[in-house]
Amino acid sequence: MSINKSFEEFIKGIPKAELHLHIEGTLEPELMFEIARRNNFEIKHKSVQALRDAYNFNNLQEFLDIYYEGASVLITEQDFYDMTWAYIEKAHSQNVLHAEIFFDPQTHTSRGISFDTVINGIHKALDDAKEKFGITTKLIPCFLRDLDANAAMETLNQACAYKNWITAFGLDSAEVGNPPSKFKDVFDAVREKGFLTVAHAGEEGPAEYVWEVINLLKVSRVDHGNHSLGDTTLVEYLSENKIPLTVCPISNLKLKVVSDLKDHPLRKMLQKGLHITLNSDDPAYFGGYVNENYLALAESIGLTKEEVCQLAKYSFEATFLTDEEKELLIKKVDEFYKKNL
Ligand code: HPA
Ligand code: ZN
Repeated sequence: MSINKSFEEFIKGIPKAELHLHIEGTLEPELMFEIARRNNFEIKHKSVQALRDAYNFNNLQEFLDIYYEGASVLITEQDFYDMTWAYIEKAHSQNVLHAEIFFDPQTHTSRGISFDTVINGIHKALDDAKEKFGITTKLIPCFLRDLDANAAMETLNQACAYKNWITAFGLDSAEVGNPPSKFKDVFDAVREKGFLTVAHAGEEGPAEYVWEVINLLKVSRVDHGNHSLGDTTLVEYLSENKIPLTVCPISNLKLKVVSDLKDHPLRKMLQKGLHITLNSDDPAYFGGYVNENYLALAESIGLTKEEVCQLAKYSFEATFLTDEEKELLIKKVDEFYKKNL
């Protein structure tokens, strides 16, 4: 289905939030090579093109292997700043007014890069985002679920020195075989320290994992959540309790969670009353930022202006902003809609 120019402009222009974005997944090959060069770090692939050619994945693990390798060029605070700033410029160009950003501290601390270096570089760019573009952000460190709970607890302790910069904690990396229950005690500690929680669940793992992140990790949002649809009781629970799912269509396609975007369950999710937000996950690896995700769905399953509006409003409702801040942003969506009917 091709979409006309005016609808394309509508999608690009509508104010939106991004709630499922791994900052390490925004590292474009060109910047990766530039950073590698100044750090005297040798990338296995010989060129930007060779690297892009390697971005073909049959599952989550094949992606994660390349993604962690890519992140290993990041050494200095400036590297983390430059990566984050590049994303902020992109977000600004796509009318993202608010972003809640994941980062993976253990990917770096395990290579001898200090937690301080990582968060200082990212945070400085987020400060500049507010000052230069008025973009607001929240920061969400994620625990790597293929590592053990003790390592997660250690990361939580390191993060506590930066309590004012962190809103919530998340859980990512290889899902199958690493159930959320493994991190129950860690997430109890996270909440005791006053942070919110989110977690990846139901991307490759079963609906049971989505129940676990709700019941054991007490998440405010579920990241991905695609496999919730197989469990009617779960779908009703998510819908009744307005628990948002941060869905990432192009990621789903590239990691073969769906075989064709025409089969993407987005419409079914909306029809079941689920609070869905559209997001880009790891745009540098999957080939699309948030607007491309909206556009890809509009082209494959067909979206109406009203549905795009609903998704944009859900994206602000699902943020960790205050009710007043959310209201202001949702009003901007309404105003945009009225002006562009
Ligand atoms: N799933 C799990 N872990 C991840 C992802 C994802 O989509 N992206 C980056 N880390
Ligand atoms: Zn993700």
